[in-house]
Amino acid sequence: MNGIEIIGTGSYLPELIVSNDDLSKIMDTNDQWISSRTGIRERRISEGENTSDLAAKAAISAMEDANITAEEIDLMIVATTSPDYFVPSTACVVQSKIGVHNAVCFDISAACSGFIYAMEIARNFMQDGRYKKALIIGAEVLSKILDWKDRGTCVLFGDGAGAAVLSSSHREAIVDIKIASEGDKWSSLTCKTAFVENPYIEKEVLEKELEGNLKIGMNGKDIFKFAVTTIANSVTAALKNTGYSIEDIKYIVPHQANLRIIDFAAKKLGVDESKFYINLNKYGNTSGASVPIALDEMNKKGLLKKGDKIILVAFGGGLTWGYSLIQW
Ligand code: ACO
Repeated sequence: MNGIEIIGTGSYLPELIVSNDDLSKIMDTNDQWISSRTGIRERRISEGENTSDLAAKAAISAMEDANITAEEIDLMIVATTSPDYFVPSTACVVQSKIGVHNAVCFDISAACSGFIYAMEIARNFMQDGRYKKALIIGAEVLSKILDWKDRGTCVLFGDGAGAAVLSSSHREAIVDIKIASEGDKWSSLTCKTAFVENPYIEKEVLEKELEGNLKIGMNGKDIFKFAVTTIANSVTAALKNTGYSIEDIKYIVPHQANLRIIDFAAKKLGVDESKFYINLNKYGNTSGASVPIALDEMNKKGLLKKGDKIILVAFGGGLTWGYSLIQW
């Protein structure tokens, strides 16, 4: 039983749909600018639910899909950039909400690559048989850490959560997986947690420290280049490592940041854009939640048949990246 299968998926999106036209009523932007540069048409925005609320609903839906009880879960990892608290972890709050009392629960921080990181961590926990059923969740309420005065970033993101249940199995579904970090590029995408402010800091140092805000900031052009290269290199590596050809792959499921990133990556790989599963038009960039939301949508639409091969690929703040070739 050294293999791992995905036995269920789930997702949850807040009800409020905010279109590009809706945004143009509260800031100087327009549908033409947003959709032509990103492909995003609308996103979901929380009206008060926090990250643990979204994560809990996605998790319950994944457990229902897997037809298992909460007691069976022995590991739960929440990948998030927008936790409810510094302490406790979002995972511990979710544990109390959904009753996975037998699970060890913790968060990981790998931004938009978080779900692939969670999959690789869970796989390592499960490989020697000590853990049998894992819930991996990507959940974000990014709207609370967006700078709503910065039209260059706030139009790109949305709130949501996705989850998957992994189970030990005789079969191996995770055929190839890799996660990686490039910390030298950390400043391309940031969101500071708190200012270093205490009675022992000299006034001049403190004044400098208090400059800026505690919201998401991004160098869009740097991220764009990184993302295109990452998708292309990841798909190429997954094919090389497994010996599959691109024709063997039913879908590439990329982190849903920007349609132009996907277009450029498709051209670089010499594949048709239809090979990519895309839903960013509806949800914008939901960071760590984007890949599991897409996966759940594909699963629930019946797009994935037993034995289909798909490549999940993500990139994000850190900078981080990762991919996973899955045999459904
Ligand atoms: N509405 C209207 N105008 C805008 C908006 C907006 N929402 N935002 C910026 N502009 C204006 C700018 O002020 C600027 O005006 P100016 O020329 O008069 O100064 C003009 O549009 C061009 O701005 P740029 O920032 O140069 O726009 P660019 O063409 O580079 O597109 C974008 C920006 C879409 C963010 C692009 O850089 C990109 O796609 N980057 C990828 C980053 C990404 O997708 N990040 C997602 C998060 S990161 C992640 O998931 C890993």
